[in-house]
Amino acid sequence: MRTSARRRLLLAASSAAAGGLIAGCATPPFGSARPAAAYPFTLGVASGYPTADSVVLWTRLAPDPGSGDPELAAAVPVRWEIADDEAMHRIVANGTIDAVAGSAHSVHVEAIGLKPNRWYWYRFSAQGHRSRTGRTRTLPDTDSVVSRLRLGVASCQNHEHGFYAAYRHLLADQPDLVVHLGDYIYEGTWGQNLVRPLHLGEAQTLGEYRTRHALYKRDPDLQDAHALFPWVMVWDDHEVSNDYAGASAERIVPRDAFLKRRADAYQAYFEHMPMPRRMMPSGPDMRIHTSMRIGSLATLYLLDHRQYRNPQACPLPGRGGATTVVATQCQELQDPARSVLGWDQERWLDEAFAHSSTPWNLLAQQTLMAPLAVPSREENSASRVRTDGWDGYPPARRRLLDSMTGRRLRNPIVMGGDLHAFYVADLRAGEDPASEIVASEFVGTSITSQAAQQAYYDRLKAANAHIHHANGTQRGYLRLTLTTNRVEADLMGLDDVRLADSKISRQAGFVVEAGRPGPVPA
Ligand SMILES: [Fe+2]
Repeated sequence: MRTSARRRLLLAASSAAAGGLIAGCATPPFGSARPAAAYPFTLGVASGYPTADSVVLWTRLAPDPGSGDPELAAAVPVRWEIADDEAMHRIVANGTIDAVAGSAHSVHVEAIGLKPNRWYWYRFSAQGHRSRTGRTRTLPDTDSVVSRLRLGVASCQNHEHGFYAAYRHLLADQPDLVVHLGDYIYEGTWGQNLVRPLHLGEAQTLGEYRTRHALYKRDPDLQDAHALFPWVMVWDDHEVSNDYAGASAERIVPRDAFLKRRADAYQAYFEHMPMPRRMMPSGPDMRIHTSMRIGSLATLYLLDHRQYRNPQACPLPGRGGATTVVATQCQELQDPARSVLGWDQERWLDEAFAHSSTPWNLLAQQTLMAPLAVPSREENSASRVRTDGWDGYPPARRRLLDSMTGRRLRNPIVMGGDLHAFYVADLRAGEDPASEIVASEFVGTSITSQAAQQAYYDRLKAANAHIHHANGTQRGYLRLTLTTNRVEADLMGLDDVRLADSKISRQAGFVVEAGRPGPVPA
């Protein structure tokens, strides 16, 4: 049942490519060489960070993921090929690269010299085996007219909480690009009634983070979503540790010890993502913030709100990380020296806004940017704010919104994840509910990660007039379709994340018209 459901959706996504893609894991060895080793492409293939003339191709050799693959040689040659036809007859670039043990035998190839705005197919071969054939697409030339762009926006995919059916539906929507907003893995186990437990302790070391990534990547729906479309991604906290902020962790440990853990987590993250080599980490530092222009239509800003932020304000005694506070009882919240993005990234973003010339500007970041007052259950008690999100750094949020207005950024749309619920909001210039709307905001729900009871989101919506929608009942993803004049946002919700072949439906739809910030129900 599950296989046939996958097959139907893959056929819908790519009638031509589907057969080869499904058969990928069983692809016979290439040439006449007898395979000398076990099949190494168990984690699939992926592509990412397309430009008008290049794309990153990724795989990792892992015959026995989870074991660390001690039998693999220190360096294994991997052949890569990219073609402009699905049958791989017209190879346009190829080469051989060593997959080395120091990078967990991962491969990051930047295929260059491609043509803009077209599909390509790619595959790898090593040790007498050939990978499945992946499919990817270059971006349009920066000056060319793009009439329509579709993004599939995903976040928070706790393996233990459910199946990745959302990805099957997402790829059937034929996105031009998949955008992942973080919590690609969870470093530890939490939640109730686990559907797919991993039986692992909390990841703390390079080997443990690698194992987590590898076990997540074994999922066939996740592999299909990577193999059929190019991705871009930003991380949130769980790629390293819950609620971490810069060099500080929730559980207080010496700074050097946490930075070592962060370096290991970033290393494993890079090894498993189709990221360009310029993003390769150096110790605990890994620059992932970047921007990309998508033809004449949109600029996408990929932001990092974890690596450079100041620690959360007013933590509970004896620990770091987030809490909820009554805003007036935490002076530190108003300290203008505190930053979410860090000063360098703030300046970089302000400059990027200054140079934007596209009608749409999309910010891919991690969590809700709009203020969110959490009402108290007790009567006459003040509402609270969460210190981990933008509410924990109000002057930094004001600087970002001021930068949008000061630079006359056209039609900003903010995308977020983290909260495991759909939120649709107006982002206003000031605290005053009558102040001008600067941007429109959409927070996707989680691919699988569990949420609170709906009564909680109902209370939030009732207490926050600028929040148009707050719903945590469904897992799923956000589908954004851009044209010159409008953006359609569809909130796609699964019937049941505990079922591998769950159906999906549109929980709600909103539209943003160009020149008129603020989402309205579709
Ligand atoms: Fe999450």
